[in-house]
Amino acid sequence: MQIETGTPVGERPFGRSWEKESLTAVVKFILETHHVYTRSAIATLPPLAAKVRGRHGDAHPETVVVERLVTRLVEDLEPHLMKEEQILFPYVLSLEAGAQTDSCFGTVRNPIRVMLGEHEAVEGILGELRAVTGSYALPSDACESFQALYTGLEDFEADLHRHIRIENDILFPGAIALETTG
Ligand SMILES: [Fe+2]
Ligand SMILES: [Fe+2]
Repeated sequence: MQIETGTPVGERPFGRSWEKESLTAVVKFILETHHVYTRSAIATLPPLAAKVRGRHGDAHPETVVVERLVTRLVEDLEPHLMKEEQILFPYVLSLEAGAQTDSCFGTVRNPIRVMLGEHEAVEGILGELRAVTGSYALPSDACESFQALYTGLEDFEADLHRHIRIENDILFPGAIALETTG
């Protein structure tokens, strides 16, 4: 069974030479691919995790932990996406457009520091998920939903790693450089 979480983004961010692209193009890519995928996954994975825990919780107590970790992921990611979309990304776009950049946060380094901390927290939860599931090893009695949950979580992990890398390694340093040089 294929989990309905949209299509993970694949290797595109690093198949494309971002150094030559504007930060506006980077932001557009992040929004249209990673944020769309993440929103779809965080809507689909929690009910699936609850279903699997309901069916297999007694025989496989790790599914109780998986559900709790998925809930934490969603609770972290929803406000994170919103902060990027409503505060940081619009600021980066106005920096690049050379517009008057009035911000409530001083330098762009401040919201970036917050985003970096939140990325680390989410990576930590993904690490806990990988540990508690034995790297998504399915038990022999796993039903289709169980398989769909582990496949969905593994796809989600891969996409989130790429998402975080393009933000940490390309967008954030680019925004700091732009703010510094004007
Ligand atoms: Fe993001
Ligand atoms: Fe982010």
